[in-house]
Amino acid sequence: MWTKESLQETIQSRMSDYRLIIASNRQPFRHAVEGGRIVCQREPGGLVTALHPVMEAAQGTWVAVGTSETDRQVLDSNQRVMLPPGKPSYPLRRIFLTKEDRNHYYYGYSNEGIWPLCHIAHTRPVFRESDWKSYQKVNQRFAEAILEEVGTQKAFVWVHDFHLALVGKYLKEAGASNIITSLFWHIPWPNPEMFRVCPQKKELLEGFMAYDLVGFQIRYHADNFLATVDRELESRIDREKTSVWYKEHETLVRPFPISVDFAAVSAEAESEETRERGRRLGEEFSFGGKQLVVGVDRIDYTKGIPDKLRAIDRFLEKYPEFKEKFVFFQLGQISRIHLTRYKDLNDEINALVEEINWKHSQGSWAPIVFTRRYLSYQDILALYRLSDACMVSSLHDGMNLVAKEYVASRSDLNGVLILSQFTGSSREFEDALLVNPYDTEAAAEAVYQALTLAGEERQKRMKKMRETIEQNNIYRWVGKVLSQLLKFEFQETA
Ligand code: G6P
Repeated sequence: MWTKESLQETIQSRMSDYRLIIASNRQPFRHAVEGGRIVCQREPGGLVTALHPVMEAAQGTWVAVGTSETDRQVLDSNQRVMLPPGKPSYPLRRIFLTKEDRNHYYYGYSNEGIWPLCHIAHTRPVFRESDWKSYQKVNQRFAEAILEEVGTQKAFVWVHDFHLALVGKYLKEAGASNIITSLFWHIPWPNPEMFRVCPQKKELLEGFMAYDLVGFQIRYHADNFLATVDRELESRIDREKTSVWYKEHETLVRPFPISVDFAAVSAEAESEETRERGRRLGEEFSFGGKQLVVGVDRIDYTKGIPDKLRAIDRFLEKYPEFKEKFVFFQLGQISRIHLTRYKDLNDEINALVEEINWKHSQGSWAPIVFTRRYLSYQDILALYRLSDACMVSSLHDGMNLVAKEYVASRSDLNGVLILSQFTGSSREFEDALLVNPYDTEAAAEAVYQALTLAGEERQKRMKKMRETIEQNNIYRWVGKVLSQLLKFEFQETA
């Protein structure tokens, strides 16, 4: 089985001659001022959940976008800061973007263009030429920073997600023959029919073709990608190897289902400190003596939060005996809030919570607690442990690591996972209560089933799910990617 230690050993024995650089838009931690002092807070999202433990083990350099003046203040003269706080293991190199580029590259092309293009969640993608220009420019800036970090050493550069599809191409154009490049696409890849509406489809796909290895979460997305390339580029697809030849360069395309640090989450979740945090949260939110269902999501239209709220409403209509005996606690992490679609979603959620709570409330009890407050990683684990069930209702999701973290945190085997069948994770978790979040009746029934499932059955299901991710943990994921990268030959430098 892959562990943090075995990954470290592999890296030391087989990769000591290479630098490992990872690049992503989102940084793992942000620095902020709170009560007059600088604090370092972990950022939300699946990408950080997965990659932070990897970087602790691999000791590479992480290149990402810094977002505040405080983020800038803590940097050394090489634009770096060591992370994580208290246990410095790897440097983060921060890039800073102008407000204009944040608007066009991040909010515009990445989040109004590619994000809705790749998720089937009924939000129309918008493509603007000015956004595309900025996307190219920022990708170029990432490539420059990476080249500075690598210098003349041999390096594996591992680029992450839809913000940075073109970085590999710019690295290649700079003639960097000492670099092997890989892109991991954390979100779904649509079918060719959907993708063809993108005005820059050819340029984007050519960007992919500059990488040596391109990874997707599940085979279905890798297959969609190959079908898209087949349709849009004059290339040769090798079905045996699942690779694409384009302009004399071969790109391997593989599924690598991402995961979490099972052992660390499991241990942390049962620690005394987590228990204490759970006690405090329970007091603060008055969970005492009630059954608890939790949800933890970035506030994003792909996560199906309104659908989840409607399922809770229907559940209480059908089973009023649960009134005053149950709480649904939803943590919503604010994200991309400058986009109208996200503002509207926040308004919609506020109105729904208000309406459902008003409808079902009795005395001082209301069924839904919705908070946007920052809860630390440990608080979230404490919340998982307190709960009877966790509900993930994504309308479409590449993987969904909340589901995996929840399972990893339940070493007591006592939680039930209600999981959307439209997540990548649902392929690994047959023992979750799988639901179609568009089907309110069925989702409400799943809540009822979760709260009434016999102890033995609950434990049996949780045990099986835990066995799955204990094996398929984050170190196995990264081990598989690195093993693949080690098979590539570096070109001889002149
Ligand atoms: C998803 C994406 C990540 C992103 C995260 C948070 O998980 O795949 O690339 O970092 O959401 O989104 P944000 O826009 O807040 O960075």
